[in-house]
Amino acid sequence: MPRGSSTLGSAGTAPSNYGQSSHGLRGDYSRMRPDYTVDQDWSAYGEAEHERWRRLYRRQIELVPGRACEDYVAALMPLGYEAGIPRFEDVNARLGRATGWRLVAVPGLVPDLVFFEHLAARRFPVTWWIRDEREFDYIVEPDVFHDFFGHVPMLFNPVFADYMEAYGKGGIKAHGLGALKWLARLYWYTVEFGLIRTPEGVRIYGSGILSSPSEIDYAVVSPKPRRVAFDLMRIMRSQYRIDAFQETYFVIDSFDQLFEATAPDFTPLYQELATLPDLAANAALPEDRLVS
Ligand code: PHE
Ligand code: CO
Repeated sequence: MPRGSSTLGSAGTAPSNYGQSSHGLRGDYSRMRPDYTVDQDWSAYGEAEHERWRRLYRRQIELVPGRACEDYVAALMPLGYEAGIPRFEDVNARLGRATGWRLVAVPGLVPDLVFFEHLAARRFPVTWWIRDEREFDYIVEPDVFHDFFGHVPMLFNPVFADYMEAYGKGGIKAHGLGALKWLARLYWYTVEFGLIRTPEGVRIYGSGILSSPSEIDYAVVSPKPRRVAFDLMRIMRSQYRIDAFQETYFVIDSFDQLFEATAPDFTPLYQELATLPDLAANAALPEDRLVS
């Protein structure tokens, strides 16, 4: 789920679902293009890998009803994921028609700026390899299952798709301003671990939760985590944990709200953030509006 950056990326916190990885980068970076993309080579997957994908898929799809948001489910179902590891070109044909986004295969984590440049051009980098059997329940880095199952369906939502592009452009800017620490938290608490309020109750749109067999239930059902109404500055001040379930989730009312709240220029916000202390991942502020 998290993308353990830091070796290639800027120091410390990296954007997106980057966490820090203690074991260095995984993947074969020897034959990529300058923008870090490679070809998927679908024929190179073995039957054991397709079979592992199908088991991951069957376990996860059971957990989706009543937990994932509606737009996610609607986009996921026609993708044919039950058959095995998808071909990028098949998903791209649909995704291109829906929102103009395109998936590009990468060897694994990519440097911050490379990642932002892809997003800004409506290209989503997807790790092509699948986790091994020992990582069936938990994997630190994004693999092909996390990226396809967690991220791809949300790219079919036009507003969310625009948000991702804007995030990429904002990332390029934040990189130049030395503000990635704050912007990375926004990715974490929205794209990876975001919740949304619906008439049926709180639902998930964050990919880190949607591709996790255990957090998917905890995030919406457990009384333990705090579910706080979306607050941009609060999020950018909040540290996060990459080694445990989140103690705080942030809940949006709509994707329009998310897009609009993040549209203004962040430069003055970064200046203010530089004067404010970070908040612990489990901080409880009196002004937090809790969502039940
Ligand atoms: N509006 C932000 C800025 O000016 C960019 C951004 C958009 C960041 C959407 C995140 C999400 O920096
Ligand atoms: Co991710």
